[in-house]
Amino acid sequence: MPDARIAVHPEARIDRIEPEVHGHFSEHLGRCIYDGIWHDETVDSEGFREDVVDLLDDLDLPVLRWPGGCFADDYHWEDGVGEDRPRRRNLFWAQGREEIPEEPNTFGTDEFLELCERIDTEPYLALNVGSGDPQEATDWVEYCNYDGDTELANRRRENGHEDPYGVKYWGIGNENWGCGGQMSPEQYAREYRRFATYVGTMDNLMVEEDHELIAVGYERHEWNRRYLEEVGESAWGVEFPLDHLTLHHYYGRDMSVAEADEDKYDKFLAEALEMERHIERIAGAIDAVATTRDIGVIIDEWGGWHVEATADSGLEQPGTVLDALSAAAVLDIFNDHADVMTMANIAQTVNVLQCLVETDGDDAFARPTYHVFDLYAPHKGNEAVRTSIDAPTRALDDGELPLVGASASVDEDGGVYVTATNLDCRERHTVEIDLGSVAAETVDAQTLFDGQEPDAEVDADNAGEFEPDDLDVSVSDGTLTADLGPATVAGISIQ
Ligand code: AHR
Repeated sequence: MPDARIAVHPEARIDRIEPEVHGHFSEHLGRCIYDGIWHDETVDSEGFREDVVDLLDDLDLPVLRWPGGCFADDYHWEDGVGEDRPRRRNLFWAQGREEIPEEPNTFGTDEFLELCERIDTEPYLALNVGSGDPQEATDWVEYCNYDGDTELANRRRENGHEDPYGVKYWGIGNENWGCGGQMSPEQYAREYRRFATYVGTMDNLMVEEDHELIAVGYERHEWNRRYLEEVGESAWGVEFPLDHLTLHHYYGRDMSVAEADEDKYDKFLAEALEMERHIERIAGAIDAVATTRDIGVIIDEWGGWHVEATADSGLEQPGTVLDALSAAAVLDIFNDHADVMTMANIAQTVNVLQCLVETDGDDAFARPTYHVFDLYAPHKGNEAVRTSIDAPTRALDDGELPLVGASASVDEDGGVYVTATNLDCRERHTVEIDLGSVAAETVDAQTLFDGQEPDAEVDADNAGEFEPDDLDVSVSDGTLTADLGPATVAGISIQ
């Protein structure tokens, strides 16, 4: 007997699902860049790890944020271009090595932008506000994007890149309430305006570029209100020189998935679902202050962050089914808020935190979260539509966990894509999906993680076990029925 009902309302459009909500974040931290994307110095061969690049390419990443993270506000981009690259300390992260952490600068701007070209991804550069200045920031924009006959544009050419890269997304700092300079929201707003004046004005010099400026927000929402009030002050007639406001949401920091029990799984998933409240609150702050300007919400860093991920471990933690399940639930939330969401970047791309790809010596393999992104890929660029969900919940100490989640979108031919998650790590749930006016002539359904335990960890040997399986569904009188195993995800295409 079905115990969960999902109604899809194809006529109730939310907005386009920006492909960028499936974005990624990569920092000079632990083994993300070195030994992840780029061969570690200790490895004889040089350059990109083709195995990792191929996996990323297959996933069709829409956007990639770099070089941090906290690293960004201690990074001086000129260290990482040209022939002579100084070796520097890495102030924030232990690079996964036992010795004093150091940054060789082997992987810099041109390498990052070449990676983006190879995998056809929009680059997103985070500028150094905490320890840098607007001149350094503007120079970076000029080096990357200017087509004229200046020293910086010519330096890019000498470094092998005749044409401007056309970098569109520029982040003004990272966590400037913390590692990016411990600023107050008002102080950051003033710094932001100083940077935005110069970086933003570079637009006038570009032939085709339309830079989008991205500001640092915070999960402590008081920051967002005060920042927006200050940055919106238009003493000189310039209002809100920003396109997107961000926040970071990590969850599960007090747990190890391997040591947790089912109660802790529930708590972890409920923490992940807090994403919805954060999106609504930051969007509300934007609405309240910036009434005339279209400012999008970016979740710039997100994902599970567990006790194993410390600076000493290079923020590495096992890749589990539970984490992947949380990613599915969060991607459903992004779909439901397509009207405000302009981007989201899971942390981080390779080896660090809830990465999608892991390397182990000469092996590179997809983590369970990778398969979730793949399963959700058909939503990208579709119109999100409303769903209503009537499903059991489990009472928690401070709230409740809905045991079934879902979202839906419509493509330009009227086809519907539904994703559904069984967030119950104990029981199966039979789900009935009311398809409304959609004539279900062809249905194709897949499921992830059926038969896997939530704490199942991926490694080089078992990576193939986390790939999708076909899901049996039945359709009758406009209603589709599917039986979802505990801690599983489904992707259902209805044409
Ligand atoms: O992703 C790891 C770190 O988490 C980033 O450097 C920082 O922005 C955040 O606190």
